[in-house]
Amino acid sequence: MDKQIEGANTEAGLTVSGLCHRFGAKQILRNINLHVAPGQILCLLGPSGCGKTTALRLIAGLEELQAGRISWNGNVLADVGHNVPPEKRAVSLLFQDFALFPHLTVAENVAFGLKKLDSRERDSRVHEVLDQVGMFQFANSYPHLLSGGEQQRIALARARAPRPRIFLLDEPFSNLDTRLRNQLRELCLHILKKSRSASIIVTHDPEEAMLMADKLAVVRDGEVIQVGSPEELYFRPFNAFVAGLFGEVNKITGRVMDGHVLTPLGRICARELSNGIEVDVLVRPEALKVSEAADTTAVANVITTRLLGGSSLLHLSIPNGEDGGLHLHSRVPGRVLPTEGSSIGVSLDQQNIFVFPK
Ligand SMILES: Nc1ncnc2c1ncn2[C@@H]1O[C@H](COP(=O)(O)OP(=O)(O)OP(=O)(O)O)[C@@H](O)[C@H]1O
Ligand SMILES: [Mg+2]
Repeated sequence: MDKQIEGANTEAGLTVSGLCHRFGAKQILRNINLHVAPGQILCLLGPSGCGKTTALRLIAGLEELQAGRISWNGNVLADVGHNVPPEKRAVSLLFQDFALFPHLTVAENVAFGLKKLDSRERDSRVHEVLDQVGMFQFANSYPHLLSGGEQQRIALARARAPRPRIFLLDEPFSNLDTRLRNQLRELCLHILKKSRSASIIVTHDPEEAMLMADKLAVVRDGEVIQVGSPEELYFRPFNAFVAGLFGEVNKITGRVMDGHVLTPLGRICARELSNGIEVDVLVRPEALKVSEAADTTAVANVITTRLLGGSSLLHLSIPNGEDGGLHLHSRVPGRVLPTEGSSIGVSLDQQNIFVFPK
């Protein structure tokens, strides 16, 4: 009989509340709270060693829970002293190292988790998921005859076959080269969006997180720093760490005066911060727009320029009274390559500028 949570959160899907974990004296997870609805993809994004895999292992039931609670649709999967065994949680895991059984064929690998089905249903489900990942023609091959990308497709098919209600993916694409990684992310995204699983993908690649996530949770030192849609995290980062996750940012230091910071780029709004405090102004390269127009907020010297394909990167210097000036990077869409050594107007997109206390 399932243990129900009385009067607590019974929202549909996976709920993790107050999850803490230590290994020996070392505190690994600190009060993790997450919710993933059926059909939703949550990305856990954070640096190496911050506890992402540990969180997945606890959800899967591979690690005994020490504090907090994990539940599905209001039914407890784990809390202190109560652990539903992994095989009863309807969880599938996909790791970066494929982990296929070498002595089983592709079809047998995929059928492995389908022992409860009769043979006709099992064959039909194996056929269906192998088709989904474009690998049906390899059904009778053995894993060692397949490339890394093909093996990961099979691992994906095997993990999907039992229709898990919770699908946990731990850096599933990181062993693949860029082209294969992109193909598999795309395939995986479409398969997950068609499913009713609550999915959690662990990654330390912010681009991958943005590509895959409906919802993103940034983890640092075992703590969730911010949870939200990719758009919320990108445009309303909670702190400098989150703002800096999504790529290089220009950093200018300054002091708040009457709700503004005066910088060589012009006045930056800092309405929520008290007068006199020292701040870091973080300016995404795409916040620096260049033009020949007269109404710009600053004038920069063009140090050098590079075409990056879909965008151009400009290295600019803005006079700030110091030798060489303030070095800034501007990223502009398309081919914009002003002459090196020339002067150019700079204006600001306030949406991509963030001010945090130092
Ligand atoms: N079984 C264990 N016993 C002791 N310490 C462990 C154990 N498993 C993990 N750790 C430690 O817990 C911390 C978090 O590990 P975890 O594997 O969860 O990090 P991660 O965020 O997945 O990192 P990565 O991005 O490198 O995979 C690390 O310091 C790790 O050394
Ligand atoms: Mg890990």
